[in-house]
Amino acid sequence: MNNPSPNPSQGVKITGGVTSGTTGSTLVRAEGIKKSFFKGKSEIIIIRGVDFSIAAGEMVAITGASGVGKSTLLHILGTLEPPSAGKVFFGQPGQDLFKLSERALSQFRNRSLGFVFQFHYLLPEFTALENVMMPALIAGHARGPALKQAQELLQFVGLGHRLEHRPSELSGGEQQRVAIARAVILRPKLLLADELTGNLDSVNRGNVMELLVRLNEATGVSILLVTHDLEISKKMHRVLVMKDGLFVK
Ligand SMILES: Nc1ncnc2c1ncn2[C@@H]1O[C@H](COP(=O)(O)OP(=O)(O)O)[C@@H](O)[C@H]1O
Ligand SMILES: [Mg+2]
Repeated sequence: MNNPSPNPSQGVKITGGVTSGTTGSTLVRAEGIKKSFFKGKSEIIIIRGVDFSIAAGEMVAITGASGVGKSTLLHILGTLEPPSAGKVFFGQPGQDLFKLSERALSQFRNRSLGFVFQFHYLLPEFTALENVMMPALIAGHARGPALKQAQELLQFVGLGHRLEHRPSELSGGEQQRVAIARAVILRPKLLLADELTGNLDSVNRGNVMELLVRLNEATGVSILLVTHDLEISKKMHRVLVMKDGLFVK
């Protein structure tokens, strides 16, 4: 079950792109982010104070050795956990995210962010099509349009011929492409990807990276990719390198 060709879906259009053509305005701004954990009474400082921003339509990679705090930073930017200090602003003029209530924050996360991880977290008992539709159905969208969008997206990611397959009937690369389609069905402004290609061979790594770039071009979605793999990070517009809890020049 290898991928049929490098660009099986080249030219497939997806409707409803959100921010295409608006590259430039700041989408996310992180200020003075610090994070530490306590082991008993001793404080382990993971992130020592980082500032950066991502523009609308921009693709940024954060790279660095294993254990430097990349995932921790991604979780903070994705509002999955709060920083120990610092702020994250989103959109224009810039909403201070960690000032939102739990409920507002979770609504924000569902509407504005998409997540993909090293493990796909697809639901095993559902087909590719059902997995991709799921966030739209949960958000209360009508079944008809959700189905159409999921079909379009699966075609875009090169899996128009795998709609009825369950995750176990797909290759690792195909599973990740389904997970990407699911992550963007609600048209997030920012896609957060953590070691997305970590379990893939080099051909599938290339295909998945090529897909992210096409997705960015087609929809204008900003992408923050966290990876220890310097080679794949070069596919992004900008690369930030983390070391000892800081970005190095
Ligand atoms: N919840 C936690 N409690 C304590 N230490 C943690 C926790 N989460 C991550 N760490 C530590 O923070 C460091 C950075 O982890 P992580 O952000 O996962 O690094 P990376 O993604 O760059 O490999 C590691 O040393 C890890 O053990
Ligand atoms: Mg990590």
